[in-house]
Amino acid sequence: MKKRITIAVDGPAASGKSTTARLLAQKLGYLYIDTGAMYRAATLSILNNKINAHDEQAVVKNIEDCQISIKLAEDGQHTYLNNNDVTHLIRTPQINREISVISSYAGVREILVKQQQALAVQGGVIMDGRDIGTVVLPHAKLKVFMIASLEERAKRRLKEFAAQGIKETIESLKSKIQRRDEFDASRSQAPLKKAEDARELDTSKLTIEQQVDLIYNWAKEIIYAE
Ligand code: DC
Repeated sequence: MKKRITIAVDGPAASGKSTTARLLAQKLGYLYIDTGAMYRAATLSILNNKINAHDEQAVVKNIEDCQISIKLAEDGQHTYLNNNDVTHLIRTPQINREISVISSYAGVREILVKQQQALAVQGGVIMDGRDIGTVVLPHAKLKVFMIASLEERAKRRLKEFAAQGIKETIESLKSKIQRRDEFDASRSQAPLKKAEDARELDTSKLTIEQQVDLIYNWAKEIIYAE
């Protein structure tokens, strides 16, 4: 496929965005960028520096002063905080608890959105997050908004945590995911929202392969119509 488009994938927590976008990028030979990992690294910085998450000024100052970057490796995206690889430190319940507040600040988003836009400038990129189709890449040729039932999303998170040896119950996960989605969708800065021109994909009853194939076919249609 010759033309290299930009694909935006948004949706609520644990809707399958990352796995789908990563496999789709492999299939298309595109770069996959997980923007949630950048907000996670920012949250880790706040926790490491013991900054009060509700002190917006102090949070923004810390993010201005720290360096968050991503690099692509054979095994996927690696996320760095001040040049330390934090890929495996950013997917914890503690980060999940604080991240919505940190990512709701305009000053934090401004810094990370600029970086994300610079990464996508060449095309051939699939980026996932909450505001990719609405704010970061409003001109993306293909926008997908992935949803799944709360039950299904909690089951997926449970598996993810179990693989890391983290114990959680399905009920507690359901309420935490729901709380985070409500917060992300109601914030004033770049809320989680389906872009008007996005295609909605309910993944509750789909396998990962089916999700990837579906979006791959949408991408092909667009690329060949160009
Ligand atoms: O995709 P994820 O679950 O790793 O994202 C974690 C949090 O980061 C999510 O609850 C909200 C925030 N986020 C955001 O505000 N904007 C993005 N583009 C990506 C993530």
